[in-house]
Amino acid sequence: MISKHFLRDDDLTPEQQGTVLRLALAFRRNRQERTPLAGPKAVAVIFDKPTLRTQVSFTTGIAELGGYPLLVDGNLAKIGVRESISDTAHVLGRQVAAIVWRTFHQSSLEEMAAVAGVPVINALTDDFHPCQILADLATLADHWGGVGELPGRTLTYLGDGANNMAHSYLLGGATAGLHVRIGAPSEFHPRADIVSAAERIAAATGGSVTVTSDPRTAVAGADAVATDTWVSMGREEEQDLRSQPFVPYRLDSELLGSARDGALVLHCLPAYRGKEITAEVLDGPQSVVWDEAEYRLHAQKALLTHLLETSQGC
Ligand code: NVA
Repeated sequence: MISKHFLRDDDLTPEQQGTVLRLALAFRRNRQERTPLAGPKAVAVIFDKPTLRTQVSFTTGIAELGGYPLLVDGNLAKIGVRESISDTAHVLGRQVAAIVWRTFHQSSLEEMAAVAGVPVINALTDDFHPCQILADLATLADHWGGVGELPGRTLTYLGDGANNMAHSYLLGGATAGLHVRIGAPSEFHPRADIVSAAERIAAATGGSVTVTSDPRTAVAGADAVATDTWVSMGREEEQDLRSQPFVPYRLDSELLGSARDGALVLHCLPAYRGKEITAEVLDGPQSVVWDEAEYRLHAQKALLTHLLETSQGC
């Protein structure tokens, strides 16, 4: 199968994900490892939601690949409102080598990918954040001694089990052969279809999927523990509802103490110290969040390289 787009984590097979992760580690060691956008070719980078890491890492990465990062302001373009997604895709696809889009609905991204004729990359939707998971997996692999060290390890995610990060950990983690555990309040468990998809992948990769409402069970013996904000972008009006149920899932030193000794701590950022994670843990010795943020750059360069090299006439 040829990877045409990266709309959700399982758009990469285990082999393809391994290739991308190995290249991400290589890019960390040599930022000029490959320059597939030399020309320069332009890549459109569009944001309909707030951003910092994603904008910086994609624009820097595209430039380092020899290309031209073309930032499109989602508020000006109003894709799907001022002009249909399909018409926009035709226009962009005639001019740029790839399209990176952060938007709300996964279906919008699918509509773009259906007609763009160039690779389309999910830079976060309400449902998935697959570029972040590539960065997380690359970070873990680098700390553990290589991509081959991922299969069989346990990665726990705590907090909002129904958000984009939880869904991407399920699919991307299962693809990497990890045992993925989600610890979340029962009213915030992941979508059933995504759990089933992750279980199917895990059956082939030797990983597994566990969803529990008990934070201790989720963390016990884990090799890595991740969390994310309790209030994702676009959910701000639910702030009051989204506090109390998550308190038992706050990643503090005591909860982290039930993970394996030296377990690594991940957070996609922005982090809210004292909410989903304590300052002691986020800023503590087991935290690898700054490596994780840096790996956005290397992982996305690796992904773009892979997609550009394998997606002829998509
Ligand atoms: N779940 C968060 C991730 C931020 C990178 C959000 O969607 O806001």
